[in-house]
Amino acid sequence: MTLEDVAAVHALEQRLFPVDAWPLQMFVDELSQPETRSYVVAEGASGIVGYAGLMCIEPIADVQTIAVVPESEGRGIGSTLLATLIGEARQRRAADVLLEVRADNPRAQQLYLRFGFEQIHVRPRYYRDGVDALIMRLQLSGAPAEQTSAGQPNKEAGQP
Ligand SMILES: CC(C)(COP(=O)(O)OP(=O)(O)OC[C@H]1O[C@@H](n2cnc3c(N)ncnc32)[C@H](O)[C@@H]1OP(=O)(O)O)[C@@H](O)C(=O)NCCC(=O)NCCS
Repeated sequence: MTLEDVAAVHALEQRLFPVDAWPLQMFVDELSQPETRSYVVAEGASGIVGYAGLMCIEPIADVQTIAVVPESEGRGIGSTLLATLIGEARQRRAADVLLEVRADNPRAQQLYLRFGFEQIHVRPRYYRDGVDALIMRLQLSGAPAEQTSAGQPNKEAGQP
């Protein structure tokens, strides 16, 4: 993701996260800290169809955001974005990757579980509309996660 992408990303953000969309300036601020942040976009024929971002301050990496437009869901884009962030966390020598996910978002939770994330905490009423946040963690081993040719993680990906 570059500064030129931010307007399009922010438009998607408002559509995909109506309750707690980040302000545009938040993306600008994140991109201005490449020493600890890494943001990527997925591009389709119509433009940006997904985006994701990681913060890594050793030894912890945090998935800051991940999103795919509804029209492009279910094609492996979310998995590819997440695999990219995990690869970045490994390169940056993170020991753990953490993320927060809404308790009422089973689809995203499934994605994280497939990559080997496990739930470690619940933050009650974390979100503005009163929904709990689940805190999930992936413990990174020394070996890089293997990918199939389809870009999907194998079942062992991310397991110690
Ligand atoms: C969660 C989210 C990022 C997943 O993105 P995605 O691109 O749909 O993810 P994937 O396609 O990699 O995987 C999702 C599903 O598609 C399936 N899939 C993956 N590749 C596929 C392919 N080539 N063909 C068909 N299905 C496929 C997966 O098995 C998975 O199935 P399931 O969710 O029904 O169990 C997306 O749904 C999203 O942005 N949601 C709204 C925002 C959000 O909730 N973000 C997370 C906040 S914590």
